[in-house]
Formats: sequence, C-alpha cells, structure tokens
Amino acid sequence: MNRVSTGITRLDKLTGGGFPKETVILLSGGAGTGKTLLGLNFLLEGAKKGEKCCYVSLSETQDELLRAAKGIKSLNDIKKYLGKNLVIEHIPLGENITLKKFVEIIGMYPKIDRLVIDNVNKLLIFAENKNLYRVYLTELVNHLKEMGSTLLICETKEEQIDSGNNEAFECDGVINLSFLDLEEKPTRTLQITKMRYTIFEPRIRHELIINEKGIALKETKII
Ligand SMILES: Nc1ncnc2c1ncn2[C@@H]1O[C@H](COP(=O)(O)OP(=O)(O)OP(=O)(O)O)[C@@H](O)[C@H]1O
Ligand SMILES: [Mg+2]
Repeated sequence: MNRVSTGITRLDKLTGGGFPKETVILLSGGAGTGKTLLGLNFLLEGAKKGEKCCYVSLSETQDELLRAAKGIKSLNDIKKYLGKNLVIEHIPLGENITLKKFVEIIGMYPKIDRLVIDNVNKLLIFAENKNLYRVYLTELVNHLKEMGSTLLICETKEEQIDSGNNEAFECDGVINLSFLDLEEKPTRTLQITKMRYTIFEPRIRHELIINEKGIALKETKII
C-alpha cells in the first residue's frame, strides 16, 4: 500500500508510513484544537517534495491562513511554494456558490497530490437539508478518492468524531483532535479513530504539541 507522509514524523510511524494514498481522511476536533495548522502542515510536507497541493478554505482567507502559519517556524516555508505547487483557494459559499455548485467546482479540479478542505461544517450550513448534505457528501468523497489524498476538516463538539452526519463513515480514516485535562493541565491530544488499510493502535490518545517551533506528537500515550 502506497503511503502519504502526514507531515508529522511520529504520526507516520504510528500509521506504518502515513495515510494510505488516494484516500479521504476526516480531520475532526473542537474549536482551536489545531485542525487548520495540521492541514497546512500536511500540504507543506507535500509541497517540499514537489507535489501539487491545494488548500480549499471555506471560511478563512489566504491572508488569515498565512497569518496563522506565521507564528510557527516550520510553517514559514509555505510562502516559498505559494502560487507554485501550493495554492490556497478561498471559496466563500453563499447565494452564488451553493453546495451543489461547490461539488461541481471540485469535480472540475485536475488530479492533484494533496488537498485540504476546511471545513465540512460550512457545507452543512449551505445544504438545503441534511439529507441532501449526505447525498452531496457521498458524491464529494467518492470523487476526492480518485483525485488525490485529501484531508477533510470537520469541527465537532466534545467527545464527537464528526458532525453527526455520516462524515466518519464516508471517509477512509478519522483523526480526532481534542483537549484533555491531564493532572489539571489542559493538553492537546491526537487520536487515530479509524484508518482503513492500516494496522494501528486504536483508542490511544497521543499528546500533540503546537508551539513556535512546529507541530509534533509526543511519545506519551494516554489511554
Ligand atoms: N506559535 C504558536 N505557539 C503555540 N500555539 C500556537 C501557535 N500558533 C497557533 N497556536 C495555537 O494553535 C491553535 C490554532 O490552531 P488551528 O487554527 O489550527 O485550530 P482549529 O482547530 O483550526 O481552530 P478553529 O476552530 O478556529 O478552526 C490556537 O489555539 C493557537 O493558540
Ligand atoms: Mg480552523
């Protein structure tokens, strides 16, 4: 099975070399858990290897994303690849761009190596109803699997792994980020909840570090 490096050395080790190629991985978690930064980190990893990478942002603009990356040294290289093999596209959904139109737009994209869509909650807001959202989500995920390797970002409430609308089921893998009070100290954690075609240790939370140097997973296992 071909693997795609995740951008986090220890996460690659835990998944036998990275995410399986040409799959859609749901990156879910509560507000501020690190989803966007992990998404950018994933793309930068590919860009450095000369891969074609695209960040599709449904909320933040390119400037806002660059501002978020600026405080983290390992992400500063994003600028080197921007407009070359790394593209950030801001697609604001609304009257002119409905969910149907969005799925059509993505359907017209050429084959690329890495894609991040941030986030599915915005798609849900602009769906006519939940049933149609599920229909379009299935269509989108099936298309993305043929297009390249995708991280689909989803904001969740505490202890949930998706928005409650089948995203975890549709995707090939689920990585869940959360905060945990460890000895009364809030700690970021990352958990592999699901990963098709991969042997991994389930139900283990790993300490996630985000600081001015970069993003990393600690050896610490939290059960
Ligand atoms: N240089 C840094 N050092 C330490 N923490 C940082 C640094 N830069 C950003 N952070 C933290 O990382 C978090 C931001 O992560 P990110 O924006 O990826 O989260 P998110 O899950 O996408 O959140 P949102 O719900 O806003 O979409 C913030 O909580 C911020 O405090
Ligand atoms: Mg975000």
